[in-house]
Amino acid sequence: MSAIIEEVVARKLFNSRGRETIEVDIITCEGFGSAASPAGASTGKAEVVCYPEGGVDSALQKFEELVIPELIGMDAEEQNDIDMLLHEIDGTSNFSNIGGNTAFAVSIANAEAAATSLDLPLFKYLSGYVGSELPYPLGNVLGGGEHVLGKTTDIQEYLVMPLNASSFVEAATANVKVHAKVGDLLGKTCKNFTGGRGDEGAWAPNISNEEALKIVFQACQEVSEQIDVECRPCLDVAASSFYDVKKGVYVYSMEGKKRDAGEQLEFMLQLIEDYKLAYVEDPFDEDDYENFAELTKKAENCLICGDDLFVTNRDRLAKGIEVGACNSLIVKVNQIGTLTDALETTKLAKWAGYVPVMSHRSGETVDTHLAHLAVGFGCPVIKTGVLHGERVAKINELIRIEENLGNRAQMSIL
Ligand code: PGA
Ligand code: ZN
Repeated sequence: MSAIIEEVVARKLFNSRGRETIEVDIITCEGFGSAASPAGASTGKAEVVCYPEGGVDSALQKFEELVIPELIGMDAEEQNDIDMLLHEIDGTSNFSNIGGNTAFAVSIANAEAAATSLDLPLFKYLSGYVGSELPYPLGNVLGGGEHVLGKTTDIQEYLVMPLNASSFVEAATANVKVHAKVGDLLGKTCKNFTGGRGDEGAWAPNISNEEALKIVFQACQEVSEQIDVECRPCLDVAASSFYDVKKGVYVYSMEGKKRDAGEQLEFMLQLIEDYKLAYVEDPFDEDDYENFAELTKKAENCLICGDDLFVTNRDRLAKGIEVGACNSLIVKVNQIGTLTDALETTKLAKWAGYVPVMSHRSGETVDTHLAHLAVGFGCPVIKTGVLHGERVAKINELIRIEENLGNRAQMSIL
């Protein structure tokens, strides 16, 4: 079977926020792959650049001129070579020439084209035929920050993790139940609640940060009592988005309160303890490795995860490992551009005992590759929301993967 690239096509289409994005098709003699790029709203400042100046139009033009002619005739099975080629053509350290989202779309579409050329589902191809562990879904049920237009919580995401679920479908069901329960509780307790939701399908009420956590905690407890799954609350603080760098304080506008780094540390520890949090992402500013490390040292039974801190970048992760910054990291392929780069970072994370969490972006398409990447890379957790078509697409794909694996399917070890 041959995976020689015969044709490459790119187009502009829209993501879940209605913003323009790039989609790339790769056609081999016997296979086909297609991928569209997601986009963040609360992006880390060390991420690669999504598009060159001029946006998607300029990225498409550069792609036609510089990249397509080089890809034709290459072997899609040589993922490393393809990803290296993208770096070479770009010639910068942050994909600011051809655009990180172009690199992402090519890299993923290429892997899929190679997989289909071999008649394999992407997750099997990526895992070298052995992937059989399903990730726990980390689902966003309430939120604010940069993912909502109006006045709501400063903390970006309140999530649920269904620990000890015995199958993926059971875990996904638990998350849907917690999302619905949070909606019920908000309807009963929050006078001005309209049922509005943010970019990722999480409820977006106008309430304080701790009130929100109380509701999510209660919903988790009630659902845990109903079904045989331990639902635990989690947070993505996305603290850089409300950190005042000049004053060195975190500005909690819902409470009219400011916290310096020491107070932020105490606050996080208190929330972890009071609400039995299983996971806290980006609790400090994206350059504050020391306080991440302090929290990781002091927090018990809680994953402390770096997203904006690491931006899926191997060097930033290596620095984090050196100082003990976290025990988990977010993997977002388009933060770093290519599959090969993201895989290297994931391998380093696993080597250091960090739990890698495969993650969507707040702006998504209905692409389902993320589900395959989570299983293919062996990530014990996938962060991909609970509601809205572009989130459910990934969840449903994992249900299909679980079915495809049959008896071999098992939940990851966390
Ligand atoms: P994003 O952030 O808006 O950059 O995708 C989501 C997250 O912080 O996890
Ligand atoms: Zn995050």
